[in-house]
Amino acid sequence: MILITGASGNVGKEVLKQVAQTKVQVRAAFQSASKAGVPPPGVEIVTVDYNQPQTLRAALKGVERVFLVGPPTAQLPALEGKAMEVITQSDVRQVVKLSAMGGREAIFPRQHAQSEDYIQSTGVPYTFLRPNGFMQNIVNYNAPTINTQNAFYGSEGDGRVSQIDIRDVAAVAVKALTEDGHAGKAYTLTGSEALTNREIAQILSEELGREIAYINLQPAPLREALLSAGVPAWNADALLDLQRLYREGKAANVTRDVEQILGRKPIRFVQFVRDYRHAFEARGKAAG
Ligand SMILES: NC(=O)c1ccc[n+]([C@@H]2O[C@H](COP(=O)([O-])OP(=O)(O)OC[C@H]3O[C@@H](n4cnc5c(N)ncnc54)[C@H](OP(=O)(O)O)[C@@H]3O)[C@@H](O)[C@H]2O)c1
Repeated sequence: MILITGASGNVGKEVLKQVAQTKVQVRAAFQSASKAGVPPPGVEIVTVDYNQPQTLRAALKGVERVFLVGPPTAQLPALEGKAMEVITQSDVRQVVKLSAMGGREAIFPRQHAQSEDYIQSTGVPYTFLRPNGFMQNIVNYNAPTINTQNAFYGSEGDGRVSQIDIRDVAAVAVKALTEDGHAGKAYTLTGSEALTNREIAQILSEELGREIAYINLQPAPLREALLSAGVPAWNADALLDLQRLYREGKAANVTRDVEQILGRKPIRFVQFVRDYRHAFEARGKAAG
């Protein structure tokens, strides 16, 4: 039995969808039952809050492998630490942790590195998945202005980023959860090309058939915009720190881990835009 945590999240949702197509028994953990919706056929649903250890303890009955997801917040190392305290007392024999590329060079990846250190110290066999930034971030964060202003904003300058499609992260997770041979491994998951935001704007323009611009901002006005959009200060600072990493060209390396594990090339950004075209429909002024 495999437990998929964070099953309502961007990655967890996709892992659940893909693992449900295999023959393995799957249990999906949602923090709140209201987000569970209708599970794929054959998937058990449980509610788990890492702050309430008894909920995870119950969810782990009969579980051998766990896909561990923590939220991208200041609490990530503490929450995953609490989860690991319960996991170490269970029969789980492998934890596949969703981590992040970037080592200790920016706030978000540093938190994951801290959590990885703790997981390693518990002695529970682990697999660390360290993806670069997700292609789907452009849907979650930038589609609103792309669709109303034909523009998106950032402070990445001309930094190249080898973004990865969440569907590839999930496909690797399913392999690590269902095959032997992945324990003790750390995989750095990237796309097959590193693009600047100006190149991304060009691909969007060509694929969507309207001119999309990337507008580079200084970090201070971008921070103001994030705060006034309701992003908490810690998250705004972590996002800006990540943009700094990107601007410095430190998220540009392309690895072969996805291809080696999946036996095919990662999804390219142009394909991602074709598949998510529905998310980029022009509205208001942008529709002309
Ligand atoms: N975005 C990127 O480009 C990127 C790149 C590399 C790595 N990552 C990392 O990938 C991870 C997942 O990203 P994501 O976009 O899938 O995040 P997400 O959509 O925010 O999902 C986080 C999940 O954690 C659950 N959760 C939150 N607090 C919990 C608690 N106390 N107990 C149990 N579950 C809890 C959430 O449940 P609710 O829905 O109920 O809140 C949600 O299902 C993050 O750690 C992030 O740092 C992201």
